[in-house]
Amino acid sequence: MGAPTNYVPLDPRGWRLAMGLRALDESAWLETDERHGDELALKASLLTTNYADVVATSPHGGEGSRELLEHVVRFLEEHHPSRSRSTSPEEHPIVRASRLVQEDLCVLVKDDSWRLRAACVCFPSRWLLASKINTNLDEIHGPVPGYGQELARPTNGFFDRLTPERSFWRLNWTLLDSPTLFQPTTSRAAPSGELADWYFRVERQTLRQLPRSRAIVTSAATLSERDAQFVPTLLHSLETAPTSTQAYKGWTGVARRLRDAPGAK
Ligand code: HEM
Repeated sequence: MGAPTNYVPLDPRGWRLAMGLRALDESAWLETDERHGDELALKASLLTTNYADVVATSPHGGEGSRELLEHVVRFLEEHHPSRSRSTSPEEHPIVRASRLVQEDLCVLVKDDSWRLRAACVCFPSRWLLASKINTNLDEIHGPVPGYGQELARPTNGFFDRLTPERSFWRLNWTLLDSPTLFQPTTSRAAPSGELADWYFRVERQTLRQLPRSRAIVTSAATLSERDAQFVPTLLHSLETAPTSTQAYKGWTGVARRLRDAPGAK
């Protein structure tokens, strides 16, 4: 279990669009922390009130989802036995797997290209799951500035070369004015208020291939922290991001507001 401060992905050299992949220690595939009970309860509540927003499946993702559930159950028994519990066989396996862990889970299967075929995403950071199901990696990332030119080719190549023996992880981050984990919106509004009202939202994403189905699983855990210790680096990252990225992330004008704030430098 990593403390949130282990996951501050700010680059002192400034903002950059990068795959940022690192080798994953498989004993740390799925993490758990003191928010376990609260986040599982939140998932249960969203699965009751907003099922169509948080679950999307297709028959192509069934085999991968069943295998994913087996892996999640085995992982918990081995590494976090106190977190093991049973789930209802009547539910879709990706929902059952998701009810066991704090992470969001996505299964991608290759046919013409790698497509999202099953997902349970309770904590989206401003995107809509229903608009992504069955689309491929390039389409999923359509709104991300620079992705098509800089990341599409290496990401597709990475997925083609991924093997069950070696898994990876990466981080995304942004600034939001709300700690709400469930943000199913495409709004790109800049955070309101000032630094003390903002949350540094970090998503830790793991990528692994399942040996039997060859499906690729992405897990994404979200941390939303108030932490002003890194303001100078944050400021530098915000200021060096391209205008299109600032608009996509809802950062437009944020660096100036931060610079103008008393004591920010
Ligand atoms: C090596 C693999 C991947 C890379 C390098 C990558 C990269 C990125 C980047 C740079 C962003 C912009 C987000 C930000 O800067 O805050 C993004 C957004 C996103 N990624 Fe990925 N990603 C990868 C895999 C995946 C996978 C497997 C999924 C599966 C669902 C996924 C789903 C998304 C979604 C839904 C968004 C938000 C798009 C939107 O705003 O509509 N990504 N990704």
